Amino acid sequence: MSPRAIILDCDPGQDDAVAILLALASPEELELIAITTVAGNVPLVRTSANARRVVDFAGGDVPVYAGAAKPLLRPLATAEHVHGATGLDGSELPPPRRPLAPGHASRAIVDLVRARPPKSVTLVATGPLTNVALALALAPDLGERLEAIVLMGGAIGLGNVTPAAEFNMFVDPHAAAMVFTAGVPIVMFPLDVTWQVRVTAERLARIAAIGTPLARAVAGMLAFYRGRGTREDAPRGALHDPCTIAWLVEPRLFSGRPCAVEVETASPTALGRTLVDWFGVTDRPPNATVMREADADGFFALLEKRLARLGGG
Ligand code: BDR
Ligand code: CA
Repeated sequence: MSPRAIILDCDPGQDDAVAILLALASPEELELIAITTVAGNVPLVRTSANARRVVDFAGGDVPVYAGAAKPLLRPLATAEHVHGATGLDGSELPPPRRPLAPGHASRAIVDLVRARPPKSVTLVATGPLTNVALALALAPDLGERLEAIVLMGGAIGLGNVTPAAEFNMFVDPHAAAMVFTAGVPIVMFPLDVTWQVRVTAERLARIAAIGTPLARAVAGMLAFYRGRGTREDAPRGALHDPCTIAWLVEPRLFSGRPCAVEVETASPTALGRTLVDWFGVTDRPPNATVMREADADGFFALLEKRLARLGGG
């Protein structure tokens, strides 16, 4: 089977960075045709530099396009308290060498998808959905041309930025609402599943023990990331974003089911809440496959194996 073509829209972010690396290290399963960046964990200049720092260090050859600097309607909210001032604190990666690819990320998504046969490109989104919503608005044919959108965001239960909402959905709820009503097949990785995939001291030591410059950089950034969090009992060190890529590489690591999902855009207290009809109690038809269970040991076994392929430096 030929590898599945993907575009990765992201806001690196340590966990986004690991998603990029896992994709780069999995050429048998995935052809990473482009990375597009959005403002989220840190402002756009930083996420755009960080994506290039990661690709450069891994020796990858993927164009990086910068996209939206702010959400559609709301002011930008960032997460330096989780990711550090640079967004990749702890990694010590050098500044980027490659320039940004010319043009806006949303335009690039449309053009790259149109250049391929229908239903042959999957869009993976691991940040706020601003670029994805803009691309869908730019090109009414995009929805039917995409194979799927695989995204990290939302929650069946508790949020992580408000009691109701997960960060990516909260930052741009209007974009998220557009994406969930676009009619594209969606595979959703909410907090309920990504919180199961956490960096422990043991897992961190195994990554560091790979011993390559790249593995040391990853161990450094994950050690930083794992130490951040609001409270002692809050789930820390969850590798949210790489769950999307790991599922594309090894689908048996996750399970879930089709559900109707709505994004709250009106309530001031529940802004960005994803209402997941897990038990099918409404008559709304499913618009997403919602993942709920992860094989965390299997995930880390895959990650270690794949990271060891990239020397880095
Ligand atoms: C999501 O928000 C960001 O902090 C992470 O990169 C991830 O995409 C988790 O809520
Ligand atoms: Ca992210």
